[in-house]
Amino acid sequence: MLQIRGLSKVFGREPDTRVTALDNVDLEVAEGELVTVLGPSGCGKTTLLRAIAGFETPDAGSIAVAGRQVAGPGGRVVPAHDRGIGLVPQEGALFPHLSVAQNVGFGLRHLPARERRAKVREALELVGLEQLSRRRPHELSGGQQQRVSLARAIAPGPRVVLLDEPFSALDEYLRESLRAQVQSVLTALGTTAVLVTHDQQEALALGDRVAVMRAGRVVQIDEPRTAYYRPLDLQLARFLGEAVIVEGEMLPVAQLDPLAGPSVSCIFGTLPVAGWHGREGHCEVLIRPENIHASRAEDRFAKRAADAPAGLVGTIRTHTFYGHDEVLQVQVPELPQQIPVRVLGDHDYRVGDHVRLVVERPVCTYAC
Ligand SMILES: Nc1ncnc2c1ncn2[C@@H]1O[C@H](COP(=O)(O)OP(=O)(O)O)[C@@H](O)[C@H]1O
Ligand SMILES: [Mg+2]
Repeated sequence: MLQIRGLSKVFGREPDTRVTALDNVDLEVAEGELVTVLGPSGCGKTTLLRAIAGFETPDAGSIAVAGRQVAGPGGRVVPAHDRGIGLVPQEGALFPHLSVAQNVGFGLRHLPARERRAKVREALELVGLEQLSRRRPHELSGGQQQRVSLARAIAPGPRVVLLDEPFSALDEYLRESLRAQVQSVLTALGTTAVLVTHDQQEALALGDRVAVMRAGRVVQIDEPRTAYYRPLDLQLARFLGEAVIVEGEMLPVAQLDPLAGPSVSCIFGTLPVAGWHGREGHCEVLIRPENIHASRAEDRFAKRAADAPAGLVGTIRTHTFYGHDEVLQVQVPELPQQIPVRVLGDHDYRVGDHVRLVVERPVCTYAC
């Protein structure tokens, strides 16, 4: 539905003011798909959306919506209002002097009054704000304002909806409930959407796929699970969540059992490898904290069942209780850094307790 090829945009002409906001970005979004774009502030997310929407002219590359080129070499640049794209801008940007209904009807001025009213009502019903249509933006909460902004974007029936950090100004509780609402509206409409955010949880939770940006480039695009458990490099691994990184040695793939995948030897023992970046030999091993299982150990020399994996025994240094889970920081004598471990359920762990840590899932390795 949306095809972006080689998109680049540079701001500023002088060498000292030049900023490459977009650097050869490729992105394809299928019909009905929601792609989240995740990246730190300043990496080019807003510029990408504004270029797609038609408010920024790219220096190179092309953009096509539903098979029609709207920007790119040799073609006419299609103006923003004619692209079939709805944009929910970063700050909502409602017109303060217009009512909710007038804001939502803004892109429908060309329609006869009756049709316009019907579409405004429909859009407001979808976001659950039909009761507030006469209010002005300043009479609404932050979350309601964002829903009006979404209603305004979807009212003309766009093929693609773009949302620029729609939840960033809201407190955590509101953010979660609005997230769910926006997701259900987009699903109900079957709209193709691109949502940008700097919040990794939001990107993973909402996206059918996640595109991770770094300094104007899309560096990885994958399903959330793949991006999280099999990031392409360690910088991405750290950006997407908490990471335990230890040194290891890739083992030669077993000759006798070709079905057994690659494995790595590291301080946690011999572990299966799900994502292997680089060659045999010395490497770095990525382990996610929730894939480390903790169990009580009397001390590091305590006996264990003969077939139980050895793992590592360490001492709990800090303990943070989050209600639904808790995070232990465990010091093992073999490593300089403490190891974060996420545990579910009530174990009554205390600082100073000994725990045995066993890696339970495949890991990723990176040549170093
Ligand atoms: N109109 C502009 N003029 C000059 N520089 C800009 C302009 N818009 C954005 N930039 C620069 O481009 C880079 C990317 O900005 P932006 O797309 O807003 O990032 P993000 O939305 O990811 O925070 C930043 O370095 C920003 O300062
Ligand atoms: Mg931005």
